[in-house]
Amino acid sequence: MDCVLREWKTGDKEDLSEIINNKNILNNLRDGIPYPYTVSDAEEFIATMLSADKNDTFAFAVTAAEKVVGSIGAFRCGNIHRRTAEIGYYIGEPYWGKGYASSAVKQICRHIFSKTDIIRIFAEPFAYNAASCRVLEKAGFQFEGTLRSNAVKNGKVLDMRMYALLKR
Ligand SMILES: CC(C)(COP(=O)(O)OP(=O)(O)OC[C@H]1O[C@@H](n2cnc3c(N)ncnc32)[C@H](O)[C@@H]1OP(=O)(O)O)[C@@H](O)C(=O)NCCC(=O)NCCS
Repeated sequence: MDCVLREWKTGDKEDLSEIINNKNILNNLRDGIPYPYTVSDAEEFIATMLSADKNDTFAFAVTAAEKVVGSIGAFRCGNIHRRTAEIGYYIGEPYWGKGYASSAVKQICRHIFSKTDIIRIFAEPFAYNAASCRVLEKAGFQFEGTLRSNAVKNGKVLDMRMYALLKR
């Protein structure tokens, strides 16, 4: 079964907080996401996404069989990078390995390239995050290089990898 991207709804807050309350997810994301992640944190996130400028923020619930299984967003950069967007995503651990992230990345890129003036979408997974690198490769992203010692996460200095997809 393929996943479907749709706008967030306030009623997704319970599903969202259940999914993201997981160190196996948070360890692969940037810092700044609360842990534990309460239902009210989820409510605040959803409200922020719904009120964000629709020209700069493209945020979707990833759903399967009407249930929220993950989150994906693309965020327009500023200044000379204003026609590029960075994507971020996660899928709840019970739903890993079903192709949802790969499909969600393909769907959001198709949406952004057809509906906006964005010409480049990029992602910067930690270099060790083989599953995310594979997701990006399956969605047609090109590996552009390693950003050496580009992050400090959980007390460790980490390489990141730059992947990008250009509008054709
Ligand atoms: C990365 C993540 C989004 C993948 O979600 P998913 O829905 O399981 O991804 P998919 O099923 O679409 O594809 C995963 C691919 O990675 C592969 N994979 C999984 N673990 C792997 C590993 N340890 N080494 C190599 N490949 C791996 C799978 O085999 C699959 O490739 P395949 O279809 O060729 O077999 C999910 O694991 C997650 O949310 N992780 C935590 C948050 C995160 O890392 N977000 C991305 C930050 S850049």
